This record gives sequence, structure tokens and C-alpha cells, in this order.
Amino acid sequence: MKSGAVPRLKILVSNQKGGVGKSSLSANLAAYFALERQMETMLIDLDRQGTSSSWIRNAVQHERLKFDHASDLIRSANRLGIFNARCHIRDASNMHEVVITDVTWSPAVGFELLEIFDLWIIPTSLSELELLSTIGLLRDLKPALDRPRSPKVLITPNKIHPFQRKFDSMAAQRFPVPFLLTPSVIASKDFETLYQKDYIVSSAKEEVRQRFLMFCEAVWQASQISVADTHAMRQRSDVGAAAASPVVGVARGSAVVAPAEPMRVPAMIRDTGQA
Ligand SMILES: Nc1ncnc2c1ncn2[C@@H]1O[C@H](COP(=O)(O)OP(=O)(O)OP(=O)(O)O)[C@@H](O)[C@H]1O
Ligand SMILES: [Mg+2]
Repeated sequence: MKSGAVPRLKILVSNQKGGVGKSSLSANLAAYFALERQMETMLIDLDRQGTSSSWIRNAVQHERLKFDHASDLIRSANRLGIFNARCHIRDASNMHEVVITDVTWSPAVGFELLEIFDLWIIPTSLSELELLSTIGLLRDLKPALDRPRSPKVLITPNKIHPFQRKFDSMAAQRFPVPFLLTPSVIASKDFETLYQKDYIVSSAKEEVRQRFLMFCEAVWQASQISVADTHAMRQRSDVGAAAASPVVGVARGSAVVAPAEPMRVPAMIRDTGQA
């Protein structure tokens, strides 16, 4: 793809909870953009443990897939550290079509980092405890997420068992900001067996691969929703504030988010809940 042909994409994968799949999704989503979409992709790992960067460092190498373990930048998590991280991500974005940043969210990371991203993917299980934690995080960050230039929020149910079709736990919750619900990522041993070796997009298990691709395609489609549409989504959710929740549709047990015009939300964003 020619440089400048498409707007460069900056994706944050973050949640304050540990073990929800931030690093696994970051590394494998990066592989999707590099391998399936042939886009120059950089994964920036801001976590000290370096799980996602290790995956890419040690797995099958691909020309378009790069990584950078840059946790030192935010080690002190002060304003200078965040400023440096911002500059680092911006610089990477000048050189790559897609930049994916993996970081465990903490209040010290702050609004300033959040606002430079186009998309914020929040992996979560569907347990009530984890959903409440995610909702708490969104509530804390609502002032930043209500700003016009804030990233679109994508919630990704992860480690979902193929037979788990109901998303009632999600529909029962009230979310403080609009979000897009991506297709869920199924629980699969491949996330362990392929770690540091290869990627889910190359999995021999067709169902696992296809389900993961659905998630990736949804992320891509979400990146293509125009700013105007996103703004309309926000306005609609403001107008619908009486309903308090931006989750406006629950079709066959799956929540659909707050679109101004539902038909304009890519179909892939909706999780049919089909295994
Ligand atoms: N879809 C999945 N199916 C099965 N196992 C998964 C899936 N996603 C992640 N895991 C497993 O869950 C564990 C935690 O995943 P991961 O390290 O990606 O989470 P994390 O949110 O980055 O954790 P941390 O907070 O420690 O950085 C790992 O053992 C990983 O293999
Ligand atoms: Mg991690």
C-alpha cells in the first residue's frame, strides 16, 4: 500500500485487568494487519513483561511485522514519560500504516496517551466482575472519551467458549460511553501452543482461525467508520441518555452499540453469537 494512501491507524489494546488477553490480541491483531492486509505494522509493547513483543520477536518472521518493547518509556509514568510515549507512538505511525500499542491501563497512563489513538480495544471476559471493572474504567475515563477527538471504544469478549452464545451479562449492564462490540474471540489452546511460534491467523484449526478473523475484520471496519458517523453515534447516545445505556439493540443475545443509523454500522461489528 502506498504511503499516505490510507489514514494511518493507531490502535490501543488496554484494560486495567490482568490476564484478559491484551498481549495475545495485540500480537495476533498485528499479525493480521501484516499478513492478511499486507500493511506495514508495528507493535509497541509498553508492558514490562514484554509478552506481546516476545511473541513477535520469537515467532515466524514477516517482513511487514515489526515490534518494539518500549516499556522503559513509561517506567516512571510521570508526565515526561507519557509525553515520550506519545512521541514514540506518533513517530512509529509516520513509518508504519498500523501501530498497535499493548499496555496495562493505570491512572498514571492518563488521558494524554489515550487521545492519540483512533481505536481502543478493551478485551474482557463476560464475567460480571470483569464487566463491572471495565465499566468502572470507562466511567473514570468518560470525560476524555466524550471529547471529539477521543478514540472509538471497542469491547472484545475474549476467551469465550464456542458453545457460549448468550451475551446476557453484557446486555444487563449499563455502559457510560458508546462503544462497538466486536465479535468475540474464542477460548483456544492455540493461544498457548502458538505463543512465540506462529499466529492465530495461521492456525490449522479452521474454526479458531475464522473466529479470530471475524474479530480482526471488525476492528478494520471500525477503523473505517468516519469521524462523522462516530460523532453521530455520540450525539445519539447523548439524546438517548434517558435510556442511560448506549447498548440499544440486543439481537439474539448480542449487544449492538449505539449507532445513529444501525444500518451504517458494519455487520461484522455485530456478534451473531454463532459458534
Ligand atoms: N482466546 C484465548 N483463548 C485461550 N487462552 C487465551 C486467550 N487469550 C489469552 N489467553 C491466555 O490467557 C493468558 C493471559 O493472556 P495475555 O498474556 O494475552 O493477557 P494480558 O491481559 O496481556 O495479561 P497481563 O495483564 O499479564 O499483561 C495467557 O496464558 C494466554 O495464553
Ligand atoms: Mg500482557
